[in-house]
Amino acid sequence: MRTPFIAGNWKMNKTPDEAIAFAREIRYELNNIDGVDIAFCPPFLAIPGVADAVKATKIGVGAQNMYFEENGAYTGEIAPNMLTPFCDYVILGHSERRAYFGETDEGVNKKVKKALEHGLTPIICVGESLEQNEAGETHSFVSGQVRAALAGLSAEQVAGLVIAYEPIWAIGTGKSATSADAGRIIGVTVRGTVAAAFGESAAQKIRIQYGGSVKPDNIAEYMAHPDIDGALVGGAALKPSFVDLVRGAV
Ligand code: PGA
Repeated sequence: MRTPFIAGNWKMNKTPDEAIAFAREIRYELNNIDGVDIAFCPPFLAIPGVADAVKATKIGVGAQNMYFEENGAYTGEIAPNMLTPFCDYVILGHSERRAYFGETDEGVNKKVKKALEHGLTPIICVGESLEQNEAGETHSFVSGQVRAALAGLSAEQVAGLVIAYEPIWAIGTGKSATSADAGRIIGVTVRGTVAAAFGESAAQKIRIQYGGSVKPDNIAEYMAHPDIDGALVGGAALKPSFVDLVRGAV
């Protein structure tokens, strides 16, 4: 009942011209793939051009970050109403933002609320480090991240969100989590935490992606797990073979 959702996180790659050319190169092939929602998340400056390139297709556009204030003296930040003319989604709390730019659970929660106020669908990223994984702390850590990110929301709001479970040790490393492990953490930890806090109905509706070294040749394994609703894709979203990856998801 949950439509699979594949989002490409282009990170700090592609100039606006390159981004538009790439979107044009693959947009129609992607548009022909039924049964899956798709989004491109380019760098900020490429967002208007990419949004224009995909406007006649089913491909959505997402930002990679957003600030939690409406406007004002916040040098270097982007306000929600600067995104809404172009974007459907916004990635919030990516592990790179948490690791390099000091993002906290509290800040992610504020951003989630602000995005929802503006009608943007958050893609909330959670995931444990290698040390936490090896210490057996994955469940408690990820469950805490989920509870913190969703604090103060209604069950109805939570039902419409997207969460991406991305073990940090699997991002950009080529070391992906097994489908069984990712599915268990997504099902038991992420969906289970949502169920405990917001009820079974919200937990059955919320879409939960896996992220971390997803490729055209492993996407089908992840999608075969009933709790995995799609993927947040980094490196493999930068190449034309992203089309094969999306095809593999349905
Ligand atoms: P990757 O990145 O697919 O390059 O591992 C995933 C992500 O960070 O969202």
